[in-house]
Amino acid sequence: MKKIGILTGGADCPGLNSVIRAVVRKAMQEGCVVTGIKNGWMGLIENDMRILDLRLTSGILDRGGTILGTSRMVSPLKADQIKKISENYKRSGIDAVIAVGGEDTLKIALDLHEMDVIRVVGVPKSIDNALSGTDYAFGFDTAVNVATECIDRLHTTAESHHRIIVIEVMGRYTGWIALEAGIAGGADIILVPEFPINIDEICDSLRLRHGRGKSFSIIVVSEGARVAGYTDFDRDDTSGKHRVGKMGEFLANLIEDKTGYETRVSVLGYIQRGGIPTAYDRIIGTRFGVKAVELVKESKFGKMVSLHDNKIRSVDIKEAVKQRKSIDLDLYEISKVFSAVTENNL
Ligand code: F6P
Repeated sequence: MKKIGILTGGADCPGLNSVIRAVVRKAMQEGCVVTGIKNGWMGLIENDMRILDLRLTSGILDRGGTILGTSRMVSPLKADQIKKISENYKRSGIDAVIAVGGEDTLKIALDLHEMDVIRVVGVPKSIDNALSGTDYAFGFDTAVNVATECIDRLHTTAESHHRIIVIEVMGRYTGWIALEAGIAGGADIILVPEFPINIDEICDSLRLRHGRGKSFSIIVVSEGARVAGYTDFDRDDTSGKHRVGKMGEFLANLIEDKTGYETRVSVLGYIQRGGIPTAYDRIIGTRFGVKAVELVKESKFGKMVSLHDNKIRSVDIKEAVKQRKSIDLDLYEISKVFSAVTENNL
């Protein structure tokens, strides 16, 4: 192994640069050259790559986003795209690609591995923490910390104005951010995609809470949550495009209509994905990057770096993308101890 390619695909997140830096450092120590592939899989299709050295990757550990750029692509790729990837991969002299990404990026990695187009090792990132096969995907810790700080700030304004504030956080299919930030921020109600929302129960709880003298409430909802009995609104996941913001607005309007309480919405959106990574994400990103180079050196292709019981290991990419990792139900039960809905039933 002399030349390792690295790409970052799908949604950006804090910690990507920590992985890139770690891959370059470790690979150089192993006597390898690293080629940075621009904008995810698109860089291999368009032959957009450049050699990464110490100079280009110094001072990036704490920087959000990705110095390589990214693009959203979903599996399966078109035949002509695969042909281009194959041609450019061969021409570049790259021996193996480290693909850093979430579900979409890693599904493409698996396809290309199974078709024998490229040799690949995966690294899991996801602010949604929805990847299986690993206890943790980096980016999530930063997103939870950002969301928690926002909930704290919204608490004070909700209380002063005697309002309900619906805070929409990211999480298309799983409610990890809503659950963890909701607990950490002391939300009164946490709503996740894993369980349909019973709107009448929520409104009853808000009324009773108001009756007890609490004239404000904080509701944290995942963008992908669903209200039972209401048809789904505009979600287009097949194209890889997705619009944040609609769930929070929908829920806030519904609550205001049903209860008459003044209700506002705050969509945290891309703020959760931007900015500096937490120390935890920098450390996990660094550990993942070093391990990814080791897997390449050991020719363990089709594998993804993973975290189990705080030890860095590897799993088949196939395992990681087979199904999404739903929220921890034990933690969800804990959240209910503090929920206005539970309080209502006491
Ligand atoms: O997959 C991560 C994620 O942050 C989701 O939580 C969100 O729905 C989505 O990306 C939005 O992505 P974009 O608008 O960048 O395509």
